Amino acid sequence: MAQKKILKALEGQTLDVPPVWMMRQAGRYLPEYRTTRAKAGDFLSLCYSPEWATEVTLQPIRRFGFDAAILFADILLIPQALGLDLWFVQGEGPRLSTIETNKDLQKLGKIESIHTTLSPVYETVSRLSKALPDDVTLIGFAGAPWTVATYMIAGRGTPDQGPAHNLMQTNTSVFEGLMERIVDATALYLIEQIKAGAEVIKIFDSWAGSLSPDDFNKYSKQPTEEIIRRVHKECGSVPIICFPKGANQAGYESFANMNGVSCLALGQDMDTDWAAKNLQSKVCLQGNLDPSHMVNGGTALVDAVNNICDSLANGPHIFNLGHGITPDADPNNVQLMIDTVRARSNR
Ligand code: CP3
Repeated sequence: MAQKKILKALEGQTLDVPPVWMMRQAGRYLPEYRTTRAKAGDFLSLCYSPEWATEVTLQPIRRFGFDAAILFADILLIPQALGLDLWFVQGEGPRLSTIETNKDLQKLGKIESIHTTLSPVYETVSRLSKALPDDVTLIGFAGAPWTVATYMIAGRGTPDQGPAHNLMQTNTSVFEGLMERIVDATALYLIEQIKAGAEVIKIFDSWAGSLSPDDFNKYSKQPTEEIIRRVHKECGSVPIICFPKGANQAGYESFANMNGVSCLALGQDMDTDWAAKNLQSKVCLQGNLDPSHMVNGGTALVDAVNNICDSLANGPHIFNLGHGITPDADPNNVQLMIDTVRARSNR
């Protein structure tokens, strides 16, 4: 039986006090992160420096004592490792060279060569697995193929993922060829993270909510299931957290019934009472405080934390936000959130 609290919850245990971590817990809301990022130069240099990436991953563990650390990296390292140009525009977000035609697809490198670019990330995982306190779980991650594809097709973040939907409809073979390559690369990437010491894997499908039910099944659920199948075949039954953000209830139910999924992350749009009733007997649930409480704090934060914990108290639960913490959040509110969770007892 697992000793670490996060692993216990992922095994299906209902704990007295839910373990807690936070999406984007290493980030710009922390002054120590901003200092290290300035030393590293820019965000991508930070991701590819084992020394600095290890340091920023550990910062929120030292400050708050979270129950899990998540590898510091980005879902867009996979497109870069496949051969696309990637850069970040200050205040705007990511930019990439794009995949629009079969010729673009053919220009992508051999899948196995991703390890050349990504080896510093594996080194970071290995350093973290040695540096973390015994009771802290190390989470590795990747983007789900659909979400990664939306950036590779549009060359940037888009409000409606329009370019990816257009390619899916007008040139299905290029779209599906791209999805296949992302599945191949992501499975290899996650297997290496696990070999380097990641104890849990989280798969982020941030744009799952923009897919129609049929496309959700074909392009969110099935590729994710295939990645999990390959990872489990190679590495045994490592716990997997899936985050099909914005998916509807039927979508969440189909993920809960999927092979190999230990936990579903809930966005703040999900009704936790519904999730407790319909999902929690099958999977652990993670979430789902609205990140805006990390900006505003106060009794609204305390009440919202307690409501989520009450609603998910009768099954396995890992406390988290419904999405990443924002740069304008106040670290004192993070402490208040943790204190509120840890003051609870389900018995
Ligand atoms: O959660 C963590 O602390 C682990 C590290 C992590 C980052 N990005 C660091 C990051 C993880 C798990 C991600 C996932 C990620 N990256 C997603 C999926 C989750 C989600 O948020 O929906 C997506 C869509 C991306 C792509 C991405 N990376 C965007 C759109 C941006 C720009 C937006 C922004 O916040 O500036 C990034 C940059 C990024 N990734 C930052 C961090 C800490 C900010 C970089 C900085 O300026 O220092």
